Amino acid sequence: QTIEKGGYRHFMLKEIMEQPRVLRDCMRGRLDPLSGKVTLGGLMPALDRLAKARRIIICGCGTSWHAALVGEYLIETLAKIPVEVEYASEFRYRNPVLFKDDVVIVISQSGETADTLEAVRVAKKHGCLCVGIVNIVGSSIARETDAGIYLHIGPEIGVASTKAFTGQVMALSMFTLVLAVQTGALLQDEANRLGLELAEIPDKIARMLNEDTLNKIQNMASTYRYAHNFLYLGRGTNFPVALEGALKLKEISYIHAEGYAAAEMKHGPIALIDEMMPVVILAPKSDVIYEKVKSGVQEVVARKGSVVIITDEGNHDLDDLAEFVIETPITSEYFSAMITGIPLQLLAYYIADYRGCEIDTPRNLAKSVTVE
Ligand code: G6P
Repeated sequence: QTIEKGGYRHFMLKEIMEQPRVLRDCMRGRLDPLSGKVTLGGLMPALDRLAKARRIIICGCGTSWHAALVGEYLIETLAKIPVEVEYASEFRYRNPVLFKDDVVIVISQSGETADTLEAVRVAKKHGCLCVGIVNIVGSSIARETDAGIYLHIGPEIGVASTKAFTGQVMALSMFTLVLAVQTGALLQDEANRLGLELAEIPDKIARMLNEDTLNKIQNMASTYRYAHNFLYLGRGTNFPVALEGALKLKEISYIHAEGYAAAEMKHGPIALIDEMMPVVILAPKSDVIYEKVKSGVQEVVARKGSVVIITDEGNHDLDDLAEFVIETPITSEYFSAMITGIPLQLLAYYIADYRGCEIDTPRNLAKSVTVE
């Protein structure tokens, strides 16, 4: 068992720590590290129809739905195709209005989630092209979709998904670059430049996962282990990261947590903030409204909330306001979710460990929900 866990105490920690390696596996043979050009064999048969899509609808459940939200941002900004994101369970039961030139993308780690599989069938009944982003080779969703991208991240054992989220965002990023060139929204050169940025992400993550960062997050976890509530805030691609950070904490530590779009804080959650409420704020400096996010930090501090900041390496702007600052390697704002999500996975992990929780098999949860 310890061997299977690669020397770690839990599969979850092993899977968090192996993210640099599995992202390299995900890119291997697809992203040319010299030119930055992405080629996705599994998409070839569908590329023409994809580029002509009137609209893309992305469906998934749980963590996969959070990755879909990152995908929405990427595809709309870079490939300029309108995107909607839906919970697979809602999509399948509400008689969606679908046109033949809509494309449905389904995201599923296991490829077996019942609601997501049914979303594939609904899409195909309407004559839509259906693309799968799946980890498990030969799974039901992989078999029933018209084209797709496998994550190639190896099996994920921990019930709380970690490397699958990062792999899904990587697959969506490569997908977007291919699509954006095909639609003409990006020149091949521009896409390649972003491809080279993607190629650097595994090394950046490996650099972040050093002893210092781990100790700091462990320290944070020890400070906050008795909290009853947590708030996570972020915007742009970091909004889904905030949702995912909150989900991780709920799943394995049983602490109530909410993720919110940063600017929505003043429309409700701010009422909850007091000295008992840790607030984790994703505040990369590349954020176009960084100054506004910063004033949000001040509002939390003014209400005695304890602030954790996730920000760019070398940014010490917020050191005086925050209880803890985690510095993350800088990448393009499009891709930062793959980096900023990881300290939140670790925070949830260490808090759950301090609380003595069954980290790899949390109560009431299943790795994949194959029945309704
Ligand atoms: C379950 C798991 C989650 C996962 C979700 C979707 O709820 O506990 O970790 O995100 O199912 O699973 P899928 O395999 O479709 O990505």
